[in-house]
Amino acid sequence: MDILNRPDLRMARKRSKKKVETVEYKTDTHIRNLGVGKKYLIQTHGCQANEADTEVIKGMLESQGFTETNIIEDSDLILINTCAIRENAENKVFGELGRLKSFKKINPDLIIAVAGCMPQEEATIERILSKYKHVDIVFGTHNIDRFLNYLYVVMKEHKKMIEVISEEGNIVEHLPHARDHRYKGWVNIMFGCDEFCTYCIVPYTRGKERSRRKEFIIEEVKQMIAKGYKEITLLGQNVNSYGLDFEENDYSFANLLDDLSDLDIERIRFTTSHPKDFSDDLIDVIARKPNVMPYIHLPVQSGSNKVLKKMNRKYTKEQYLDLVDRIYKKIPNVSLTTDIIVGFPTETEEDFQETLDLVRKAKFEGAYTFVYSRRKGTPAASYESNITEAEAKDRLHRLNELVNEGYAYGNKRFENKIVKVLVEGYSKTNTSVLSGHTENNKLVNLTGDESVIGKIVDVKITKSKTWSLEGHVVSK
Ligand code: 5AD
Ligand code: SF4
Repeated sequence: MDILNRPDLRMARKRSKKKVETVEYKTDTHIRNLGVGKKYLIQTHGCQANEADTEVIKGMLESQGFTETNIIEDSDLILINTCAIRENAENKVFGELGRLKSFKKINPDLIIAVAGCMPQEEATIERILSKYKHVDIVFGTHNIDRFLNYLYVVMKEHKKMIEVISEEGNIVEHLPHARDHRYKGWVNIMFGCDEFCTYCIVPYTRGKERSRRKEFIIEEVKQMIAKGYKEITLLGQNVNSYGLDFEENDYSFANLLDDLSDLDIERIRFTTSHPKDFSDDLIDVIARKPNVMPYIHLPVQSGSNKVLKKMNRKYTKEQYLDLVDRIYKKIPNVSLTTDIIVGFPTETEEDFQETLDLVRKAKFEGAYTFVYSRRKGTPAASYESNITEAEAKDRLHRLNELVNEGYAYGNKRFENKIVKVLVEGYSKTNTSVLSGHTENNKLVNLTGDESVIGKIVDVKITKSKTWSLEGHVVSK
């Protein structure tokens, strides 16, 4: 067992003025053809940042000759890209790791790797070392570019490798990608988070906020356009603080979005936005540029000013609703979605009612809703709570009923309308039906000729359901 570095959450909390380095990705020349004739399987948990990281890991593996499988028994390498945001996400991963033990007994050459946010926590490493000894490779979010080096050692020297780095992190450019979709793809514009919402582990697991230089972003988008991509989603934990870490501090997210929308890309989306940094300039760019989609995910977390303060969100309910108002005025057709946590320590029924009130006023067309989960190492972990699990679940249930009305309303308003859909392929649940998304990010199942796959077409909406729309192609 080689443990090169262990995580340290206290160190991960530190933020210095040290300049972020941009380094080039390179593979050591002795690492060649590791995967010829071999298969890999990756299971991805959590947010889009993890999905994007998985595409990089796949790119690295495929550059070595590995091919993908979704059958455990056929796999030579199984990697779990983990999420640490809530306890149940972590429990799922430990459940999976337990299940993999028996596969390793049948095939002792099977390599099991754990990556992503969970390894950034000390407790995960302790647990893997004591109870999940069948795991061969563990690395975190800051050293994905080193993965092939670990794999090489495991395959050639039959050792186990653990390396997790808790420093602030650099930016690695020109990483390989094996993208999941052919017509839409992720583009990281920044990494890490400096917000330190008191409940959230992300600033510890993904490090300091680092923005990618615009030249690299534009280069990546141009390459995607050349490959036929129609839609990009710009990714960051808080895209609205893009560029604040540049020494010059003269190039904002609104500037980046404006510049990218001048390229020949048909659709641009972005996620996630922190309400406190959402500027009027940004609203203007979304309103002005037809290829910036009228869909904004704007996590609010709570409607109670007391709770928002305890969460360190840095805005009030009134300020949030004022922002929403300005957005609706300038972009009347926009769809808004949000994230909400219920059961945060000290949240009372009155606080919760404030949240319901905000949900009604903001007219969300969807929301990810969560019961608060205590994350060791975060400030809120020490806040006392008198909310029972049953109370929290009851609030979640009541909130979801309201949120579902928003989903249904958000779809209903497109009934009998003609909308533009990027047809992504056949529906996951019914392979005789095509599916895609509208500009407002609504899922549409549609009938039409196969030749529309990969195109943006006009679709007449004939029916709306709570979670999706139905329609048929009216033009190509
Ligand atoms: N408990 C519950 N939900 C959380 N989120 C982040 N941390 C926690 C936590 N400790 C939610 C927030 C965030 C989304 C990605 O996950 O709503 O916006
Ligand atoms: Fe977590 Fe807050 Fe950063 Fe979002 S903005 S990743 S909720 S700390």
